[in-house]
Amino acid sequence: MKFKRIAAAVLIMSAAAEVCADVKPAIAASAAAPSQWIVPDIDKLPDDEWGRTVRYGRDLIAKTASLIGPEVKDSARRFAGNNLNCQSCHINAGTQEYGIPFIGVFADFPKYRARTGAVGTMEDRIQGCMERSMNGKPLPANGPEMIAIVSYMKFLSTGRPVGEPTPGRRAGAMPELDRAADPLRGRKIFESNCAACHGADGRGQRVGSIGDAKGYVFPPLWGPDSFNDGAGMNTLIDAANFIHSNMPQGTTWQNPSLSPEDAWDVAAYIESQPRPQKANLEKDFPNKLEKPVDEPYEPFPDDFSLEQHKFGPFAPIRAAIKKLRQKQRGQ
Ligand code: HEC
Ligand code: HEC
Repeated sequence: MKFKRIAAAVLIMSAAAEVCADVKPAIAASAAAPSQWIVPDIDKLPDDEWGRTVRYGRDLIAKTASLIGPEVKDSARRFAGNNLNCQSCHINAGTQEYGIPFIGVFADFPKYRARTGAVGTMEDRIQGCMERSMNGKPLPANGPEMIAIVSYMKFLSTGRPVGEPTPGRRAGAMPELDRAADPLRGRKIFESNCAACHGADGRGQRVGSIGDAKGYVFPPLWGPDSFNDGAGMNTLIDAANFIHSNMPQGTTWQNPSLSPEDAWDVAAYIESQPRPQKANLEKDFPNKLEKPVDEPYEPFPDDFSLEQHKFGPFAPIRAAIKKLRQKQRGQ
């Protein structure tokens, strides 16, 4: 596969955008200043041990269901618990700007993670998606799969300085609604914009038939073969931004298809559907004051309802948390 090199001409402006970029850069702000998005060309790697390892890493991201999914022949290699691919969410094998890309990830770990209350490695982060997004079990710590995935991420992060933010990471940051996102309104948006591919029942469309380890043409958004309730995609803010920047398929963050309001509501509809449940979620975020406001499971450090943590509005929750933090610091 030939990876495209998408580079905007205005270098000075992109340098400025980099300095301004926050952890989750606002799409509106980035749209004004063209960013420089460079995808290293995997075809230029030689066919040696390193090149083959990086390509195996890319294959694990793009064809996860066929290589380590729950239906592969060798039962010892069934690590993922559902038939999604990593690139069901990390668009174009993790090379798409604001498609939760892997570019720059290698330069950003190890780092502190509120979910565990400790500094974690990139391997830990990958295992997080194995256990939540893929509803499966961790990969063998130093096994060939983990080494290949990390190698691919290192390759994709070529030229990204350690510790510097990479604009275009994650999925963007739309303005939030000042009302709760509305799953009923979202259902109508789903039916007219999403169901054609993902199915009216959200179960997606398989390449072939159950048991063939070929995965999906259009992945399931809920139901038993989707991500579990502890996954990032099961939080409203991540899901709404992902959808706004990337869905329907082919959408880019520069040219979103849905209005922000529609993206928030359709995300709420998806979040309100059943999916596999992860055990022990109450142990996430040992310091509950560090728990993101949209984590849709208890316990919470504040008095807001589960409903409001799921669907917003989030500004009042943030204000309450801020007060609790000040109290904790004795201010
Ligand atoms: C159902 C969607 C989904 C699937 C499938 C998925 N992920 Fe993720 N992944 C996410 C979300 C959402 C995030 C969090 C993005 C953020 O922090 O804003 C994430 C974050 C990550 C990160 C950290 C990225 C960063 O910018 O810091 C890594 C690394 C990662 N995933 C690896 C994987 C790997 C490897 C697989 C396959 C084994 C996988 N993911 C499958 C949704 C998914
Ligand atoms: C033309 C077909 C198509 C349409 C229409 C479409 N999607 Fe997708 N969607 C995909 C494909 C294919 C993927 C996997 C990633 C990729 O290859 O782009 C995906 C991935 C996703 C994912 C992450 C993976 C998962 O299983 O959860 C979500 C969430 C999602 N779509 C939501 C939506 C929403 C919401 C809409 C409607 C606004 C929508 N999609 C419309 C084809 C489509």
